[in-house]
Order: sequence, then structure tokens, then C-alpha cells
Amino acid sequence: MTNLLIKEILALPPESQDVTVRGWVRTKRETKNLVFIEVNDGSGFNGIQCTFDRGNSLGDALSAALGAVNTGCSLEVRGKLVPSPASGQAVEVAAVDMTIIGDAPAEAAGDIPAYPLQKKRHSLEFLREIAHLRARTNTFGAAARVRSRLGFAVHQFFQERGFQYLNTPLITASDAEGAGAMFQVTTLDLDALAKSGKVPDYSRDFFGKRAFLTVSGQLEAETYATALTRVYTFGPTFRAENSNTTRHLAEFWMIEPEAAFARLEDNMALAEDFLKYLFTTALRDCAADLAFFDAHVEKGIIDTLKSVIDSKFVHMTYTDAVTELEKATGFEFKPYWGCDLQSEHERFLTEKLIKGPVILTDYPKEIKAFYMKMNDDDKTVRAMDVLVPRLGEIIGGSEREENLQRLERRLGELGLDAANYGWYLDLRRYGTVPHSGFGMGFERLIQYVTGMANIRDVIPYPRAVGQAEF
Ligand code: 4AD
Ligand code: MG
Repeated sequence: MTNLLIKEILALPPESQDVTVRGWVRTKRETKNLVFIEVNDGSGFNGIQCTFDRGNSLGDALSAALGAVNTGCSLEVRGKLVPSPASGQAVEVAAVDMTIIGDAPAEAAGDIPAYPLQKKRHSLEFLREIAHLRARTNTFGAAARVRSRLGFAVHQFFQERGFQYLNTPLITASDAEGAGAMFQVTTLDLDALAKSGKVPDYSRDFFGKRAFLTVSGQLEAETYATALTRVYTFGPTFRAENSNTTRHLAEFWMIEPEAAFARLEDNMALAEDFLKYLFTTALRDCAADLAFFDAHVEKGIIDTLKSVIDSKFVHMTYTDAVTELEKATGFEFKPYWGCDLQSEHERFLTEKLIKGPVILTDYPKEIKAFYMKMNDDDKTVRAMDVLVPRLGEIIGGSEREENLQRLERRLGELGLDAANYGWYLDLRRYGTVPHSGFGMGFERLIQYVTGMANIRDVIPYPRAVGQAEF
């Protein structure tokens, strides 16, 4: 690429060198002699100010073009990079020429309505309706850059630690979580079947059986972890849960490391290192974006991330957590041993009791998936959830049941058909080993790091209950 990005131009020494700036207009301001155009290309948080001096006799064509510049226009500005007299920016462009590439009318023009992103602040709800344009705002540009940088950091973290990147299937015939919240995939003509009153014959469906979008790549990751020792997945995941909350998506991206010869303690340490690595990366490489989130979205988020990096995560068993919750009052749902922790319980633990992240372990088997390793008490399993303030669960994982008989018994207790898990049971039949892993929702991570309240605002095109636009 020969064009310089604005981020690169801003880093050049201001030695009056010729530069060409390309991007979209954020603002235009005029004084008697000067025209200031703030151009942003999304390469970083900051745009660059281009200043046109009418005292330099700009010429009729350029003056007319400047008059036509509106917020949202795409343009190219040519000029010299010079030290900026204005505060808050080291350099600016002393512009000599400018071409509008694409207009963005400030008022309806013919059948083109006015550009919807005028200078004023817009509500996140409104911006969700124009998700195809919202990346041009400060908030969504910043969220997209943090997301991009941390996506790369996920790979760096695992690659540096000997984990191999694994691509697990998106279409599957098995329910990895045993929870049944799956989207079905079919090429049968369901409308025609309904009209003729016939029931679907899935043996005639595309795959010769019922198939679904995956809820997790874990089971397949286990097959590779018991061959390559350390693997991780990073891909889309689908859940047909009817949860209309600020933390649930129907399509989200999950990172799932899986390691052989690893116990729950190793898994907890890995999760803690992983989060701290990601927070450190964000603070170092997304400083301008985080400063924006700190100032306008979640005050104190930078200090919070720093203090989490410096702290040791508290470990607590589910049983001890419930004992603490039972001592507290004011919950809508009364906590008791065996209950699935509600968001209000998670918030109490992280925000009031611990005042930071906490890793809860050893949950009742009834509220966890079939594959988790049973403790000797036969009541709890070697599960771990990492809970953080504001969000609750950011990571869920466990040590896996590596004993064939115990795993078969567990499938039976849960009414799951062992025949569907034959390949998974083979891992326990041949060369079984202790192994552990976890899953982190990528959007929950981005929510935590940016302080964004709604998960639908940290993924470009959210898919959730009743929402699949664009
Ligand atoms: O706790 P979950 O359901 O665990 C699993 O899927 C395991 N197979 C992971 C493993 O051990 N390999 O999901 C893991 C994480 C959650 O902690 C949460 O961060 C995220 O995935 N998550 C969601 N994120 C957004 N929308 C949803 N509907 C989510 N469901 C789970
Ligand atoms: Mg979970």
C-alpha cells in the first residue's frame, strides 16, 4: 500500500513534508480566513485537522469545493504536515488542495436522504438501526479497533504458549453442551412438508440426519488436545437460547483452549494469565481508544483494568460462594445450594464481596454439562467460571471427565444417548489423560475492556432474539 494512513501521518515528524490525506469528514469549521476540516479514516482514534487559509488565495474551484464539504463526505486533501498551533494535536495539514470523492448531503437531496450521522451525539439505540454506518462514529470505530487488536492478541497469547490453532466445524450433529439450545440446519422444504401434512424425514435431509449450528467446538477440540496436547479454537458459535439480555447473542465468537495433562488448577492459571495478557495489550496498544471509553462510556475503566492486572484472582468454591450469598439480603431470587447463580448473585460476589474478578469452582453437577470431571463427593464437578464486575461470567470451563465408566454413567444419568458420543468416548478408551479447557465469549471480553453496556454494540452485526438485520 502506498497511501499513508492518517495514523501513520500523525506519527511523522512535522518537517513540512508533503502529505495526502484520505478519509471521511467529521467536522468542518470556518473563521473569516480559515477553514478547518477534521478528516478521519478509522486507522486510529484520532483524525487529522486540515487547515485551508483563504489568505493564500485558494482559487475559485477550491473555494467552491470547500463550500460543498459536509460531514460524512469522503475526500482527499493535499498539503504540508506542519506543527499544529492548536492544543491536543501535535501536527496538522496546511492544505493546498482538496477533492471531494463522495458527497454526503447534510439535507435531503433528491431521493437521497440527509446523511444520518450529523455532528451531534446519537443514542446507541439509534445507531443500532444504522449498523452499516455506525462504524464511522467514535464509539463504534474504537470498539472495532479494540476488537481487532484483541483478536490478534488471542492468537499471540496461545501461539506463544505452544497451543495450535484449530478450526472446528460449525455444522454438527452433536450437542456439545447437552443443553439443546441449537439452531437446526436443513435443506428440506419445510413449507412443502407442512402443506402436505408430512413429517420431515431427516434421513433424506442434506446430511442424512438432523444437523445443527454448533454451540461449542469443545468436544472436537478435546480430540485434537489428546493428540497435539495444546490447542485452541476461535470462531463463531450459535445459541438459540431465548435470552433477551445485554450479555447474550445468538451468534457470538468464542475462544476455547483445551490442554492435555492439565488439571483444573492449570486451567484457572491459564484463564487468569489470558485475561491479564489481553488487558495489558489493550492498555498498551489501544490507549487512545481506551481513553475515549474511560471518558465517555465507563469512567475508571483504565484504572480498573490496571488494578485487575496487578491483583491475584480470588478462588472460591461454589459452596462457599452460596454460603456468603445466603448471609446477604435484598436478592430477587433467594440463593440456595444447587441454584444456578443469577446475575444479581454474580454481581454481589464480584462487586460487593470480592470487589474484583473471582473464579468459582466445584459447582453442583446438576447445573453443569455432562463432560465435567466428577469430584469424589459425587455431588460437585471440577467446573470453573470466571466472574467479573458488571458482566458476571466471562469464562466458563472445567477439567474433563477422562474416566470411561464415569463418563458413560453421567451420560446415562442425563438421558443422553451414548451412541451419539461414541467418538468422544473413544478418547477415554484409547490413551486417556487428564485434560482441561475453557471457553471465553469474545464479545464479553470486549464489553469488559471497553465498558460498553450492551453486547450488541461490540459486534458489527448483532444476531439476537428477534434481530438479524443487515
Ligand atoms: O459457559 P459456556 O456455555 O461454556 C462452553 O461452551 C464450554 N464448551 C467452554 C469450554 O469449556 N470449552 O460458554 C463459554 C463462554 C461464557 O463464559 C461466555 O463468556 C460466552 O461463552 N457465552 C456467550 N457470549 C455471548 N452470548 C451468549 N449467548 C453466550 N453464551 C456463552
Ligand atoms: Mg457457562
